[in-house]
Amino acid sequence: MTPFDLPNNFILGTATASVQIEGSDTNNSWYRWSRQPGRTADGTDCTIADDHWNRVDEDIDLMTQLHVNGYRMSIEWSRIEPEPGHFDSGAMAHYRDEIEKLIAAGIHPMVTLHHFSNPLWLEDAGAWLNPAVIRQFARYAAHVYTHLGDLVTDWITINEPSVYLTFGHVWGDWPPGDQNILNYFKGARHMIGAHIAAYGNIHELASGQGRPTPRVAAAHHLRVFEPAGGKIVERWICRAFERLFHNVFAEGMATGRLLWPIGCGTPFGQGDFQDYVGINYYTRDMIVFNPGKPLQLFGDTLVKPGAPVNDLGWEIYPEGLFELSQRFYRRFKKPVVITENGTPDRSDAFRTRYIYDHLYQVRKLLDAGVDVRGYYHWSLMDNFEWAEGLGARFGLIEVDYTTQARRIRRSGEFYAEICRNHGVTEAIMEEHLNPIVA
Ligand code: BGC
Repeated sequence: MTPFDLPNNFILGTATASVQIEGSDTNNSWYRWSRQPGRTADGTDCTIADDHWNRVDEDIDLMTQLHVNGYRMSIEWSRIEPEPGHFDSGAMAHYRDEIEKLIAAGIHPMVTLHHFSNPLWLEDAGAWLNPAVIRQFARYAAHVYTHLGDLVTDWITINEPSVYLTFGHVWGDWPPGDQNILNYFKGARHMIGAHIAAYGNIHELASGQGRPTPRVAAAHHLRVFEPAGGKIVERWICRAFERLFHNVFAEGMATGRLLWPIGCGTPFGQGDFQDYVGINYYTRDMIVFNPGKPLQLFGDTLVKPGAPVNDLGWEIYPEGLFELSQRFYRRFKKPVVITENGTPDRSDAFRTRYIYDHLYQVRKLLDAGVDVRGYYHWSLMDNFEWAEGLGARFGLIEVDYTTQARRIRRSGEFYAEICRNHGVTEAIMEEHLNPIVA
């Protein structure tokens, strides 16, 4: 391990999402779903989560202690538009106030418009399977941009469309609990259409109002898929996974071109619909052929034998961040932002090393000429991890859910030092890394 630096204007931030931290919103799909018996691994739900809605000041104060210069947060659609076409000015004022406080603290905001949760009215009308969602999402995006666009330049339209559709419409572990791959295709078309419509609205409003040019993109969940053995069929499955999980969204949302099997042609228009490439990266999957798994395209995903894994059993594979970011940069020739990267580590045993290893790959990307602009660590604090419930601990900050007390973990102190120094110095290595490798 060696010290390394990162550019002074590089964003080193953290990321969260509304339902995972805010609590107190009863009007979204995850509130209803997570309170049903058996929906989360540990029986917990998102009713309170981190109570962030009531603790914005405290949490921004913690961000300043981490010395981050960026924060990715999401706006909860169900709060902004509690009924179709009815917009809540109080909820908007709350977010505006939060963003103003971030800016006053020297923290650059990046705002996600959709991060897995839907307003109940949308969910009950078929959500992303109903073509009306394209118009509805574009209207919501325009509304949010109109009210926040003077403060926010960096936007994510939709977070991880592939993950939302896989869990909600193929495996059925997330709302609406559907298991129908044809609905994955249908939802994909609508998400692409909605992204393109929102992208257009935001840019049009920005130029009409003379605001600084916004930077708009989706955040794609990218995984390394590798054949577990030498079988040719495993290579085909990897290609199919790459196409269905990555490329249909990346290509469709960037250019408007629909790839088979989700569609063909450019029904939502053809153009340039992303200003950067947003990448969420966590892990690698080894693929084995399993004829009994048609819904998973005849593939099972395994962890490479002997590889290091996190608390949820995902392989820790930092090199994948380099591979995928370089590949997507070469394909789209747009700046890359690592919009999520992190690990569940309850005892904080390996997060420090994880952060070092992944930021080292960012340094390597910069050296290889990839225009990486920022890195948002997932997550600021422990939070509601969807079907895993509150048990998975992704936070740089530990949260005690009985008291809501927050405590910066040792890995959080390490990240804070990196943010303060724009890199890893000898002294930081001495204090944080040498003790764990010794
Ligand atoms: C999602 C987050 C989630 C994280 C860890 C990403 O797929 O965007 O909401 O908490 O991964 O699983």
